[in-house]
Amino acid sequence: MSVARKIAGELVEASWIRRMFEEGARLKAERGADKVFDFTLGNPEVEPPEGLIAALREVVAENRPRTHGYMPNAGFLEVREVVARRMAARTGLPYTAEHILMTVGSAGAMNVALKAILDPGDEVIVLVPYFPEYRFYIENHAGRMVRVETDERFQPDVGLIAAAITPRTKAIVVNSPNNPTGALYSAQTLREIGNLLERHPQVLVLSDEPYRALVFDGKKAPEVPPLIRRTLVADSWSKALAVPGERIGCLAISPLIEDWAALRDAVTFANRVLGFVNAPALWQWAIARAPETTVDVGLYQAKRDLLCDALTRMGYQVSRPAGAFYAFPRTPIADDVAFIRVLLKEGILAVPGSGFGRPGHIRLSLTVATETIRASLPGFERALGAATLPAAN
Ligand SMILES: Cc1ncc(COP(=O)(O)O)c(C=O)c1O
Repeated sequence: MSVARKIAGELVEASWIRRMFEEGARLKAERGADKVFDFTLGNPEVEPPEGLIAALREVVAENRPRTHGYMPNAGFLEVREVVARRMAARTGLPYTAEHILMTVGSAGAMNVALKAILDPGDEVIVLVPYFPEYRFYIENHAGRMVRVETDERFQPDVGLIAAAITPRTKAIVVNSPNNPTGALYSAQTLREIGNLLERHPQVLVLSDEPYRALVFDGKKAPEVPPLIRRTLVADSWSKALAVPGERIGCLAISPLIEDWAALRDAVTFANRVLGFVNAPALWQWAIARAPETTVDVGLYQAKRDLLCDALTRMGYQVSRPAGAFYAFPRTPIADDVAFIRVLLKEGILAVPGSGFGRPGHIRLSLTVATETIRASLPGFERALGAATLPAAN
């Protein structure tokens, strides 16, 4: 067999999201698409802001020489200067182009960062529940993922993080606003993590921030680098500008890290040898040219309100997401996979919390049409009733 045993095993075990996607396709063929309510995928269903598309058109129309050529592996200097100025304005820290690496999305940024810092067997702490790709990213670079639980409201427990740090710990992944919970970490919590890490100078924070711009109720996500000195921000325009297929992001190395220049050399090398070479050229120019803007967060907030209010009224326990575009309600029975099956009977597709390391929950993506949410509600109510009948347990 050509496929490695490790990969073959991962394919069977790993992807709940993929399994649910296949289940959805089957159900749609069986019942008709309008009877299936698919809450599984986090694929923005809004269009990119017009300002971004206008910038892209301008770049193409100008057709300046070298627009499409090879470039330094870190990305075009002029683009990195723009991104650095924005980072400096946001954080108050002296970022320059030298601290910025343009990447293939936040996923690319995480992978180059991990490749640059991990020796085989080094440990990376992730906070549970977590984006399941983190384990693959860490293991891609021979690291070991160490899970640390968050509390009932999905907030980090700094005592538990402290207890999990060993001499092999190289990084902690922080993801706020969070996938799958929508939780937002407070400045106070981040400061406490920063204070803890002052005692562990070998540990970096990888702040995975693809949802940073998607925060509800007029709030803002606290900037991590001013609160945690040794921070690498994995940033991305995938969700903020609804362009996840274009694969454009960046890694920002905090100027407060003593050996930032060595890290810069390492991540630039990693970007090259992982085969990314550089981030997509056209999209680097478009991002630098476009006004700083985001998709309409109000649309996601309205969907959060519709879904979470309705589920709460029915009797589900839902911690209200403060950002990102997911809700992560508790399941009425402890076995989340069994509850997923109950929902399936109603044509509702969701991802079990087990897939994110926290059973007893489901993840519902808010990137579905409002009408889909409305039409799904009676099914959620019937599923709650069916699951809590003695026979269903
Ligand atoms: C938590 C988290 N990190 C990273 C990514 C990858 O984002 P990108 O498209 O920027 O690579 C995602 C995408 O869903 C995500 O949810």
